Amino acid sequence: MLAGRDVSPDTALRLAEELRERYPPGLVAAALTQQALRQAGRAKFALADRMYFTRAGLEQASSDLTATHSAQRYSGQSLVADLCCGIGGNLAALATVAQNVLAVDADLDALRFARHNAAVHGVTAGVAAGVTALCADVQDLVLTGSPVQGIFIDPARRAGERRLRSGDCKPPLGWCLGLPSQVAAIGIKAAPGLPHDLIPAGWETEFVAVGRDLKEALLWSPALATTTRRATLLPGRQTLTFAPGPDVPVEAPGEYLLDPNPAVTRAGLVEELARELGAWKIDPMIAFLASGFPVSSPFARTLRVIESMPWHERQVALRLNQMGIGAADIRRRGLAGDVQQIHRRLSLKGEGHATIVLTRRQGKPWTLICTPVTPAGEMPAPGQMPAPGQMPAPGQ
Ligand SMILES: C[S@@+](CC[C@H](N)C(=O)[O-])C[C@H]1O[C@@H](n2cnc3c(N)ncnc32)[C@H](O)[C@@H]1O
Repeated sequence: MLAGRDVSPDTALRLAEELRERYPPGLVAAALTQQALRQAGRAKFALADRMYFTRAGLEQASSDLTATHSAQRYSGQSLVADLCCGIGGNLAALATVAQNVLAVDADLDALRFARHNAAVHGVTAGVAAGVTALCADVQDLVLTGSPVQGIFIDPARRAGERRLRSGDCKPPLGWCLGLPSQVAAIGIKAAPGLPHDLIPAGWETEFVAVGRDLKEALLWSPALATTTRRATLLPGRQTLTFAPGPDVPVEAPGEYLLDPNPAVTRAGLVEELARELGAWKIDPMIAFLASGFPVSSPFARTLRVIESMPWHERQVALRLNQMGIGAADIRRRGLAGDVQQIHRRLSLKGEGHATIVLTRRQGKPWTLICTPVTPAGEMPAPGQMPAPGQMPAPGQ
């Protein structure tokens, strides 16, 4: 009746009235909720229009992209337990790489949906034959000595409609980290903001970003770990790992500024990236890098520096005015201050567009006025360049 239809807020009311003439109101409400969730679910799932969701289940679900990535470590296992499987965001991907999956959740509605959603994927990918669903508290399970070869656990960050305090989850992270006493091969999906010192020695922490959007931290027990810290970018699956080396020099900004991907920053791999790209730091504590040439790397966004000067708000405002910069994105790292208020106080005027970086250089507040780097041979869009004659020599 509603499959594949887009229902906008404008049409929802009219549609609800039409449907209520033919169906009970409870059924109509459930169908419209499901339709709205499917529409929202398209951002995560290619087959969202055939899946079922709870609101909390969709919000916390792994997407096709992240689930496919995390499932790879279980490749070839005969039985994997997907603990806290929710509506099954990870389930189909696990069932694609492992022969059998045991899906466990305490929420019966979510579990039913997970089974349905796995079957939806099975129709297209030939999986789900080996999915067994169990409604239970995962903390009551005893998997020691069972045929389960690996466990993936994605603890809840919500209790019903209520969001848990940042850092809290159910079951608690401490309990999840104890799972290797039952089964050696454990993967835990955690919030990317988790403190590094919670991770026991021998575990790998993998920070996963989709584009520049940091999505999750995956914690791999020693049996699945291949390094200590890793940053992975999807959809390309480019990965950067911990690799100690010589200290990265700290010098004045160069012609180009590199803004590392948040997965690299969170994984503490800025120095590894600098060594790989031949870049240097502009401050020992700040996660910007500098380079003398335009760098093409999936792990960093490159900006061309057109002005480098100490951060004095009035002087920077004056310089931006001289350069005809009327629109700017402000990026702040290592400096206090409300970006929106700073933006307002700069009173920008002109046709040009720039990225204004507010940061520290050798401990001092510093400003870099930058433009995006465009592929060789292309000119920046007209609005992204300062007016002709107003662009100073690079790196001044
Ligand atoms: C973050 S969601 C899982 C999302 C899932 N991986 C996905 O991609 O769809 C967490 C789930 O944990 C379940 N849960 C929380 N505590 C549990 C427990 N002690 N035993 C079983 N399930 C639990 C919740 O019911 C919820 O469905």
